[in-house]
Amino acid sequence: MSPASGVVVVGSLNADLTITTDRLPSAGETVAGHDFAIRPGGKGANQAVAAVRLGSALSLVGAVGDDVHGNMLVQAADRDGIDTDSIVRIAGTSTGVAVIEVDANGENSIVVFPGANGRLAPHHVEQEAERIAAAAVVCLCLESPLETVIAATRLGHKAGAIVMLNLSPFKEVPAEVLADADLLLVNEHEAAQLLGSTDPTLDWEATARGFTARGVRDVVVTLGARGSMVIQGGPEDLPVLTPIPAAPTSVVDTTGCGDAFTGAVADSLARGEGLVAAARRAAVVASMAAATEGAQDSYPTLSEVNAHV
Ligand code: RIB
Repeated sequence: MSPASGVVVVGSLNADLTITTDRLPSAGETVAGHDFAIRPGGKGANQAVAAVRLGSALSLVGAVGDDVHGNMLVQAADRDGIDTDSIVRIAGTSTGVAVIEVDANGENSIVVFPGANGRLAPHHVEQEAERIAAAAVVCLCLESPLETVIAATRLGHKAGAIVMLNLSPFKEVPAEVLADADLLLVNEHEAAQLLGSTDPTLDWEATARGFTARGVRDVVVTLGARGSMVIQGGPEDLPVLTPIPAAPTSVVDTTGCGDAFTGAVADSLARGEGLVAAARRAAVVASMAAATEGAQDSYPTLSEVNAHV
């Protein structure tokens, strides 16, 4: 049997309908936008594109509808060299759509309609068991139905792949999923939701113990402009904490920066690199993603990253 290699992402594809505006509206308020674009997005597809641009062999297991957005998303993934054979087309269903507003500081607000993503079923993932068994890394997020995430986590774990779980957008997951995941990626808000804490950054030792109590050994908590914290289980379950600084950037649009980080970590782990080195390079990739508009449209290639550092 050949050694496991490459990355399988099981996740979402969305058409990102994006308006830029000076400031985000408050509830009940209408504000004027000054630019509009439809771009390829969705957390799963974003993570896949980030990893494939860094050189990973990549398969994306996902679902689109039989509509113009579905065509656009599959074509975009194809252009990036992603294996799209495992993207199913669901007749009579709209492709996932995200309505995104980006303000002058690059901050965003996003509403996602899952569409076909919500129809990606466990049997779609089980059909890809061989592909998953051949992968070094299986990367998951929570824009797919929970039962599908459970099936993919189980398959990846059984096959001995590194199972990465991005708990975004946050929802509670069964203990089995956390136990089968090798690496959890969360931002500070998702960490707080999982651990039931107000601010996980106030006491990292307690935060690390909270993850251990949930059966999670390795975690990266992303902190936006403050970088990230890598938490790794050490001997006798004593956690090792490694703060990773953010790479300097001038922020234009933070949409999909977390996905760029996750995809970059997946790429590094698939090559056998350690988690701390992976997080350091992912910080550079995410900072480059923040410097231009859009999610996938802003992700760098390997040569761009190498020229940047
Ligand atoms: O994380 C950014 C992504 O979230 C966007 O591309 C949008 O599609 C939503 O899924």
